[in-house]
Amino acid sequence: MTRPVVIAPSMLASDFSAFGQEVRDVVEAGADWIHLDVMDGHFVPNISFGPDVIKAMRRHTDKVFDTHLMIAPCDAYLEAFAKAGSDIITVHAEAGPHLDRSLQAIRALGKKAGVSLNPATPESVIEYVLDRLDLVLVMSVNPGFGGQSFIPAMVDKVARIKAMIGDRPIDIEVDGGVTAQTAPLVAKAGANVLVAGSAVFKGEGVAGYRANIEAIRKAADAAAA
Ligand code: DX5
Ligand code: ZN
Repeated sequence: MTRPVVIAPSMLASDFSAFGQEVRDVVEAGADWIHLDVMDGHFVPNISFGPDVIKAMRRHTDKVFDTHLMIAPCDAYLEAFAKAGSDIITVHAEAGPHLDRSLQAIRALGKKAGVSLNPATPESVIEYVLDRLDLVLVMSVNPGFGGQSFIPAMVDKVARIKAMIGDRPIDIEVDGGVTAQTAPLVAKAGANVLVAGSAVFKGEGVAGYRANIEAIRKAADAAAA
């Protein structure tokens, strides 16, 4: 079964002084989901924003809020991110020793549960939690910063994960260096959710964002078909 390609612009690349406007503009431009990168300066060498900022953005759209937690430990904060309006909460497999517990906690909060894998982490870490997963996020750059180059070896990782999940209803999301050039590679390998930060927000306003989203979607759809 082929799932329709979902484009999830990352607010990390937007204007931090105007999040409300940026969310409205990127939704008007055709974003399917809103990707929210949470960084703690500990798990990753950068700090972004937390639950209160997500709560403030939540007032501006009904679109799916796809929260990517790059924080360790994460368990103590899951409830805050659920209450802030996240629909999907993704934790890193490397963020702690109790991935199974974190995934259970996310679902107990009534949210969809995702796991993210750093580039060097093998896909085998998800083997025993497949039934607790709604989404697998394959990092195609080292997390922490936008605007980095796509790591080509991640295409094969996507294909292996696609084979592992079989016909389970699990989204495969790719994050980092996604452009109209790299999107077809991962879509062909089985990814159905594409995060893009700089490739979307490099434009100016709704018209620019729309052209960027359409270019990525067109390239991915052609490859996935
Ligand atoms: C990186 C973040 C990404 C980032 C992607 O740690 O998880 O979501 O914003 O940015 P681009 O698309 O510019 O690589
Ligand atoms: Zn992300």
